[in-house]
Amino acid sequence: MRQKTLRDATPTSGLASLAHLLPFARPYIGYFAVVFVLVVIYNAASVLQPYLVKIAIDRDISVAHLDLHGLIAVSLVYIGAVIASVAANYFQILLLQYVGQSIVRKIRIRLFSHIESQSMSFFDNNSLGRLVTNVSSDTETVSQFFTQFFLSMVRDGLSLVMIIAVMFELSPRIAAYCMVLLPIIFAISLLFRKRLRTAYQTTRTRLSNVVSFLAENLAGMRITQIFHQEDRQAERFRSLNEAHRSANVHEYQVSVQFNRALDLLGNVAVAGVVWVGGNAVIGHMILFGTLYAFITYIRQFFQPINSITQQWNTLQSSIVAADRIGRVLAVQPDVADPVQPLTPREVTGKIEFDQVSFAYKPGENVLNDISFAVAPGAFVGFVGATGAGKSSIMSLLTRFYDVSQGRVTVDDVDVREYRQEDLHRMIGLVQQDVHLFSGTVTDNIRMFRGEFSEQDVIRAAEAVGADEIIRRLPQGYETKLFAKGANLSMGERQLVSFARVVLLNPRVLILDEATASLDSQTEAWVQRGLQAVAKNRTTLVIAHRLSTIRHADQIIVLDRGRIIEQGDHETLVAKGGMYARLYEKSGIEAPATAAVDILTLSPVARG
Ligand SMILES: Nc1ncnc2c1ncn2[C@@H]1O[C@H](COP(=O)(O)OP(=O)(O)OP(=O)(O)O)[C@@H](O)[C@H]1O
Ligand SMILES: [Mg+2]
Repeated sequence: MRQKTLRDATPTSGLASLAHLLPFARPYIGYFAVVFVLVVIYNAASVLQPYLVKIAIDRDISVAHLDLHGLIAVSLVYIGAVIASVAANYFQILLLQYVGQSIVRKIRIRLFSHIESQSMSFFDNNSLGRLVTNVSSDTETVSQFFTQFFLSMVRDGLSLVMIIAVMFELSPRIAAYCMVLLPIIFAISLLFRKRLRTAYQTTRTRLSNVVSFLAENLAGMRITQIFHQEDRQAERFRSLNEAHRSANVHEYQVSVQFNRALDLLGNVAVAGVVWVGGNAVIGHMILFGTLYAFITYIRQFFQPINSITQQWNTLQSSIVAADRIGRVLAVQPDVADPVQPLTPREVTGKIEFDQVSFAYKPGENVLNDISFAVAPGAFVGFVGATGAGKSSIMSLLTRFYDVSQGRVTVDDVDVREYRQEDLHRMIGLVQQDVHLFSGTVTDNIRMFRGEFSEQDVIRAAEAVGADEIIRRLPQGYETKLFAKGANLSMGERQLVSFARVVLLNPRVLILDEATASLDSQTEAWVQRGLQAVAKNRTTLVIAHRLSTIRHADQIIVLDRGRIIEQGDHETLVAKGGMYARLYEKSGIEAPATAAVDILTLSPVARG
């Protein structure tokens, strides 16, 4: 079986990874066009303003000739330009924000459904924290590429071009002087670029150290407290934060140095323009208004340059985020539906494992040559030491993983030939580790599916003996559960998950240590319920308490990934092998089981 980690999924790099996300932006191409038009209006209106002042100074209020009508006209146009630039700016920001958030939403939904379609090996190999970051913040970062970066390139690029064009129109000679600035700006940017990038990346890394430390520690807070590690953990947290602070301050330092250098250059440029332009005014080569406009333009000139250079960080972080998103989207599930799936009709629940071997990691088999057959409606127990491979067998039956060799069949059809959805409808699984979602008890039993009524839910709970216990909860069936069901006891959680599976009404029922958290009285209760539920269903039960499976039609004993014994209780006890030894021990060590025994599923009771 191949390992699926995000690292070895098709790697994309640099701009290519951003290009992969372009399809998410494509539906908004019309919006981008409107933004572009607004940007042009904004820029034109902004660049026009100093030019209008120049006209007023040189034409309307020159000492030689005062033109009041001209001045009013210019003022009105000026006001118009101001209004146009403000309005264009306003709508362009709103529109771009709308587009950016729409893209985030699209990528998020796509990522989530992609992650949902992955098989278990994906979740074995990728940490939840990482996936959460991926869906929540990487998407947000990428959207900045489509908004901030795109905007800056268009707006600032255009603004530079326009300013340079107007400067040359006003006075080619002074404009040419100003162009000397370009290589100097370029050199300064180059000088700072590497330092800025390193500083930026260090800050990001250290911030993510802080975040992951926090996530892990909040999750493990109980253990921290029980082992009195609070001070030590606080010390580690302090040093991680210290590292982040110094990186952050350093990043700021570099970026402020860069901005101030540009600022300085800008002021020197103004001085230069005053000198060269002043001389030109004295020599009557240009009018005073032109000099005024030049000084304004040279100041405006540095704004877009500053903004563009800041986009370097946006670009860098967008590339990193896009790459991470791309890697997740590139992973194909190990377990895929067949091209021509077989639709099951009357499912009887016959199960067969035929010389099955399986490895989570290539070359490390956890199951070897497993063969057994289960008749429809039979009750089969699985016994074996911790790590023997019991749960792994069930994971193959539900196709959380695919076998390495051999085949697993349900009703004589290889599980790989069913659609996973159909397979999972046939098989109900209850595990010791129950996952509950935030919502009410009812929500959790019907798994948020509206097609089941409250009556259905109550009936299912009654069937497994959970009804009474649920009614004892503060708000009964309407009790709100905390995340993971933290406000229920382990046993209560298991009862809820029993009811959940019974509601599904599957042909095959798997109970993996499902009653391990119940006290013997509640277990007896649940067993009685299951007796009814298991009737006419194939039931596979993994249990450490042998009393639970004593009356099974068949007991399969596993040891280190192999079946070492198979048969019913009497046969296995008579054989005097591993099962007999386990049984002997359980008889001495667990006196409570005798009481439960009477109530456990017996072939007779199941009819
Ligand atoms: N997701 C996994 N990735 C890699 N190895 C795994 C994974 N799950 C289980 N294993 C390994 O496979 C072996 C069999 O595990 P399995 O969970 O099937 O045992 P089990 O018989 O159910 O044990 P237990 O009684 O403790 O539940 C163990 O050695 C375990 O370490
Ligand atoms: Mg197990």
